[in-house]
Amino acid sequence: MDKMTGTNAPTPLREAVRQEMSPKRYAHTLGVVEQALTLSAPYGLDPLRVETAALLHDICKEWSREDMRKMVLQYYPETLKENDLESVDIMHGFAGAALAAHYFHVEDPEILEAICCHTVGKAGLSLLGKIIYIADATEQGRRYPEAEEIRRRTALDLDEGIRSQLAHIVSRLTKAGKYIHPNTLEMQAWLAGNLRMETN
Ligand SMILES: [Fe+2]
Ligand SMILES: [Fe+2]
Repeated sequence: MDKMTGTNAPTPLREAVRQEMSPKRYAHTLGVVEQALTLSAPYGLDPLRVETAALLHDICKEWSREDMRKMVLQYYPETLKENDLESVDIMHGFAGAALAAHYFHVEDPEILEAICCHTVGKAGLSLLGKIIYIADATEQGRRYPEAEEIRRRTALDLDEGIRSQLAHIVSRLTKAGKYIHPNTLEMQAWLAGNLRMETN
């Protein structure tokens, strides 16, 4: 995909994704594609890999909890705990990665990881994974009160933008008394320099 063609140009994958979701979810998805392509351009990532991950990141978001659960238990039986299997927010990335691999035949492990971890995050996430994570939170359709500030920070410094998004999410979930997936806290520690990764 050439960015110069714009995010409305039809491609077979875009068409397949569009048919799998509501117009609202598809508009968000195209917003993530656009933001991810913008953020990745200075790093020279392959735009086709970026677009594939962005297009598929929410491919299962509108599935029922039970369908997500079946998919996750089939393909990631050891990965998610009972708490996680109650949460569509947590499960939809894992179910999406499984669908990307087994239905859309995506083999690139970084694309699959980016889809899998776009909500919960992960310490040691690849550059592609980081870009999808923060593009999801900062695409132009996002209107939560902190979005503009996180968008501004992300444009200046990718990691700083992710740190501010993680702080926002952890604070929101804590205030609401909600469960926080350990990946999110580990990613926060990693980007704060408090968690050393063997591969990084
Ligand atoms: Fe999502
Ligand atoms: Fe999303």
